[in-house]
Amino acid sequence: MTRIPVYSPELGSEESELVLECLRSGAISGSGGSFLDRFEMAWAGYCGRRHGVAVSNGSAALDLAIDCLDLPAGSEILLPSFTIISCLTAVLRAGATPVLVDSDPATGCLDVSQLERRLTARTRAILVVHIYGHPVDMDPVLALAERHGLAVIEDAAEAHGAEYLTGHATGRGDWKRCGSFGAVSTFSFYANKPVTTGEGGMVLTDDAELAARLRSRRNLGFGRGRRFLHEELGWNFRLTNLQAAIGLAQVGRIDRIVQRKREIAARYSERLRHLEGLQLPIEAAWARSVFWMYAVVLRDEVPFDAAELAARLERAGIETRPYFLGMHEQPALLERGLFVGERYPVAERLARRGLYLPSGLNLEETEIDRVAAALDAELR
Ligand SMILES: Cc1ncc(COP(=O)(O)O)c(C=O)c1O
Repeated sequence: MTRIPVYSPELGSEESELVLECLRSGAISGSGGSFLDRFEMAWAGYCGRRHGVAVSNGSAALDLAIDCLDLPAGSEILLPSFTIISCLTAVLRAGATPVLVDSDPATGCLDVSQLERRLTARTRAILVVHIYGHPVDMDPVLALAERHGLAVIEDAAEAHGAEYLTGHATGRGDWKRCGSFGAVSTFSFYANKPVTTGEGGMVLTDDAELAARLRSRRNLGFGRGRRFLHEELGWNFRLTNLQAAIGLAQVGRIDRIVQRKREIAARYSERLRHLEGLQLPIEAAWARSVFWMYAVVLRDEVPFDAAELAARLERAGIETRPYFLGMHEQPALLERGLFVGERYPVAERLARRGLYLPSGLNLEETEIDRVAAALDAELR
């Protein structure tokens, strides 16, 4: 019995050709070369943004994006508890205070109806995360941000090509890609992401001044004058041209990647619909999810949790991943005195009842059927 991995990257001849071209050019670092510019322009263009700044990973993208907003000391940033720790560390490293919000039980994305009651006089920004490829309901977030003068940061690490219908409450509206909202947006191109560069990330913005700051601080704050004269402090968060060459090839077939992700999800949903113990991923009427991972939640009547289901599937040769564990349950943060005594019941339930199934672009229909049969055997 072959093991079905939770994901595996799909790399084709376009990637090999562009990587070879990059190798032959000799410009393999994160300076000079043509692949970085081409990748940045291709991704920013696809997402409907003016500027793209490629970085070494999605966590670095968050660090850089939040740092470059230059928020005043003591600023509070609202963000979901149910997310990856990179969001939290980026807020802390920018010298800001994280203020958590619980999630919507149907999508896992932050519950936008809870934002307003978490506002204080110090709130300066909202960090939204499009969870597992499903967009956050952006209109209320943007309206609240506008009313209170807050910056919106979008973590679209998992939502490549996902779309949101702006103005959906009015019955009209425009489809816009995730990563095109707010002051700044961030992406990860880790190997399990729809578009991958192995490790990699990008920050997008429409603001030319912000883009210049992002570029400077990505590259140790090198100024434009004399070399090794620094007017500000930065990091080395550069992506290499070699990685950008892979990314450029991937962006070239993004439509197929998104389509395949949606096909995988549709087949899973069809095969699993009859299982009453399983909450399947939804797509809100105003959303086109990319179903980055096919993410399911065990309903309360199932007498075991997601860890037990994962162990049983592993015995059947099926790899899965648990859901995020909320930020308010992280020992590394509680030890620092953060979120002590705070409760976010939806995030807590998702962490214990949720897991995601094999969702790689190479997944075959017969493998989806094998996963569905294994779930059927456990849950019927
Ligand atoms: C929502 C989200 N944000 C940020 C990141 C960080 O990206 P990276 O792993 O490239 O640092 C991830 C990673 O998977 C993620 O899922």
